[in-house]
Amino acid sequence: MKLSLPALREMKRDGRPIVMITAYDHPSGRIVDATGVDLVLVGDSAANVVLGHQSTVPATMDEMTMLTAAVNRGVENALVVGDLPFMSYQVSDAEAVANAGRLIKDGGADVVKLEGAGPSLERVRALVSAGIGVMGHVGLTPQTATALGGHKAQGRQADAARRLFLDAISLERAGCFALVLEAVPAPVATTISRRLTIPTIGIGSGPGTDGQVLVLHDMLGIPGDGPEPRFVKRYAEIGELMGAAVAAYATEVRNHVYPAEEHTYTIPPEELEAFQNAVDAGSIEENTLADW
Ligand code: KIV
Repeated sequence: MKLSLPALREMKRDGRPIVMITAYDHPSGRIVDATGVDLVLVGDSAANVVLGHQSTVPATMDEMTMLTAAVNRGVENALVVGDLPFMSYQVSDAEAVANAGRLIKDGGADVVKLEGAGPSLERVRALVSAGIGVMGHVGLTPQTATALGGHKAQGRQADAARRLFLDAISLERAGCFALVLEAVPAPVATTISRRLTIPTIGIGSGPGTDGQVLVLHDMLGIPGDGPEPRFVKRYAEIGELMGAAVAAYATEVRNHVYPAEEHTYTIPPEELEAFQNAVDAGSIEENTLADW
């Protein structure tokens, strides 16, 4: 059964850690859902993780809708979070509602996520008024990383931490049902998490948040082009396994080892003989090729 937003709040109240993970395709959606994770985020990190861009900025609504739909088709129980890409919600409330509606109606997302506070607060209110659940995201917000001075921890000075604290409270008041805290010093994230009634989901923000999220490819050990953030823990080395498997396949093909008998289809001997005779006599070409 699908996790509900009230159930998520209950998890925070009961002190049960919330597990979120990203996914970008159908088999990954199916695999992560079968493990019983609570939320599956179809993050705009797809842009750099699976589409080969240098940042999340180029992600488009068409791409996010297609990826969200693919993941959603594999997820039965977890809540699917569709990520609103850069410039899909910044222009106006109307565009934000239309684009979030697309992720939900065409992509099958249960709820959406957007980044930032300030101007995003009005968008959160508009989306919530339209009946759309919104997850906020503050701290390091990759869509505006350039303005933040790059991909680095946020809220490391008292003033910046104070602003983060206020942003988090404002997003809760605007109607967010949960909040991602990315790359925030652990004690600051803990203080914010204790103060909010909605759950916080941390990434690089220490153990004091109400839940954690990691990018699937990071934790599986399928590295991207850029440096790996210090908060990533690799639970497997799937990238190495993939490389070794493809190399083994290539070797077997080159050495005529693959495909073996068990990988091939058979034909009854009498049918094969009839076919072979026709080929040898040249009758197939003569009789049929002209009309083919
Ligand atoms: O796009 C994404 O994957 C995210 C997570 C890192 C929280 O926003």
